[in-house]
Amino acid sequence: MSGKDTIAIIGAGLMGHGIAYLFANAGHTVRVHDPVPSALEALPKRIGEICDLLKTDHSATARVSGHADLKDAVADAALIIEAAPEKLPLKQSIFAALEKHARPDAILASNTSAIPITEICRDITNKSRVVGAHFWNPPHLVPLVEVVTMTPDNLPAAQSMMASLRAIGRHPVLVKRDIPGFIGNRMQHALKREAIALVAAGVCDAEALDDVVKLGFGARLAVLGPLEQSDMVGLNLTKDIHDVLMPYLDVTPVTHPYLDALVAKGELGMKTGKGFREWTPEQAEAVRVRFKEFMARSAAETAAKKT
Ligand SMILES: NC(=O)c1ccc[n+]([C@@H]2O[C@H](COP(=O)([O-])OP(=O)(O)OC[C@H]3O[C@@H](n4cnc5c(N)ncnc54)[C@H](O)[C@@H]3O)[C@@H](O)[C@H]2O)c1
Repeated sequence: MSGKDTIAIIGAGLMGHGIAYLFANAGHTVRVHDPVPSALEALPKRIGEICDLLKTDHSATARVSGHADLKDAVADAALIIEAAPEKLPLKQSIFAALEKHARPDAILASNTSAIPITEICRDITNKSRVVGAHFWNPPHLVPLVEVVTMTPDNLPAAQSMMASLRAIGRHPVLVKRDIPGFIGNRMQHALKREAIALVAAGVCDAEALDDVVKLGFGARLAVLGPLEQSDMVGLNLTKDIHDVLMPYLDVTPVTHPYLDALVAKGELGMKTGKGFREWTPEQAEAVRVRFKEFMARSAAETAAKKT
């Protein structure tokens, strides 16, 4: 792949427009397909907002075009990244259409959060060119992308995908087995399982739990991964703690009933004013602004270190 190659993105939503920005900002022509007209109409404004946030010139916006027809978006693309809703039958039908309309040498990637790639490409013939490319939200601010392989046949496609990601300033990590949730979402939801169980058991309220993470071990996570931290303090300490703690950690093998009950009551979080905690619109907006500003600062620092 080179800076001249055309990229296609399937889905112009939260993830799709950010991924489109990343490739366009690196000089690629980017064609985005979405069947919803308003999603395509919003693209230039949304990409322009990322340019403003990251203080890049607006040339990326001009390199991105919207296409109501999937065929038009993918016909000449060397790399196609699907970022449509997280529904297996939908993704399977999109990949069947990609096999029919894409160049035979194009790499086909899915941005699925948790569905195994093997299931997504179940109905297509040439699976060797299909990989997972799991960007994190917001993709223009979080550098990690998990690149998922199914079998050794996928390795060349995965390596090519990783080279393309490095070229646009992302940090790819190879996931060697195609398991649900890959690495990051398994880690994240293992943490959420314990968090929900602690609140449900009345050990603390949701605000205290978030403080423990943000002001405690979370404060070091960006510079010290959990295994690095164990290596730093000594594995004997980690073992001593595990010997005591492991029998008590939550192992509920399904969605926790506490979460099921909140969702059933329509308590969905900031968008409904109440989830694990209560939120006024002002409080919710303050959290969004704090998050966006922190991530933009962190992305700028990472970019500055590379130059
Ligand atoms: N939101 C996140 O935090 C996040 C993070 C990482 C990965 N993902 C994954 O990325 C994918 C997209 O998530 P999102 O948050 O951008 O969703 P989204 O709902 O914001 O966007 C999905 C877009 O796909 C479009 N769409 C619907 N049917 C389509 C079709 N047949 N073909 C093409 N496009 C179609 C929708 O109109 C919408 O614009 C999902 O698989 C999701 O699991 C999401």
